[in-house]
Amino acid sequence: PRPRLLAFAGSLRAASYNRRLVPLLAQGAREAGADVDLIELRDYPLPVYDGDIEAAGMPDNVYRLQALMAASDGLLISTPEYNGSMPALVKNTLDWMSRATVEGKSGTLLFQDKMAGIVSASPGPLGGIRSLIVLRDALSKLGLLVVPQQVAVGNAAERLPDTGVLADERLRSAVLNVGAAVVRHLCKGAKA
Ligand code: FNR
Repeated sequence: PRPRLLAFAGSLRAASYNRRLVPLLAQGAREAGADVDLIELRDYPLPVYDGDIEAAGMPDNVYRLQALMAASDGLLISTPEYNGSMPALVKNTLDWMSRATVEGKSGTLLFQDKMAGIVSASPGPLGGIRSLIVLRDALSKLGLLVVPQQVAVGNAAERLPDTGVLADERLRSAVLNVGAAVVRHLCKGAKA
């Protein structure tokens, strides 16, 4: 069976560098043989996690995201870096998704033994590399295996102009390879 991956950028703004980068990550996975659902978190708005909101009734968007995750073999994420960490949007989305599913099972089961590939983009010189360290750790705590390949695209204002094209050949192939590496591992696992 073809692997299926869920992809999103950890930013809501229209001109987000990470929204420009995530299609390339998805392309790398598709070229390696996966189907990719590339979604916009803007289409799945969620409040900041609040146990009282959850107790009053899980937001529908949590169930929609969980259904996408249930149908996926892993995640592809392009994340900004906020104050040396991942944005609250990314953590909040993962936290809501980890809550009980519509069947009443722990949402963390949705992530178990699945794979992830992560990249980041920032107008700064380091490209958000510190957010990748934090995101990698958070994803592995959810039970995902994060491939060792990762790319932080620095100077994103120049490298990811509004045409959305990452011209730098070395970075471009590195980002494609993060997506492809996830698929390679999934296909190897399927054979084993
Ligand atoms: C930032 N930015 C930022 N950049 C960085 O490289 N390291 C950092 O620690 C931070 N910290 C930070 C905190 C907050 C609250 C904001 C709003 C921004 C800048 C950030 O990289 C920039 O806004 C990017 O454009 C965000 O990514 P998108 O939206 O372009 O994908």
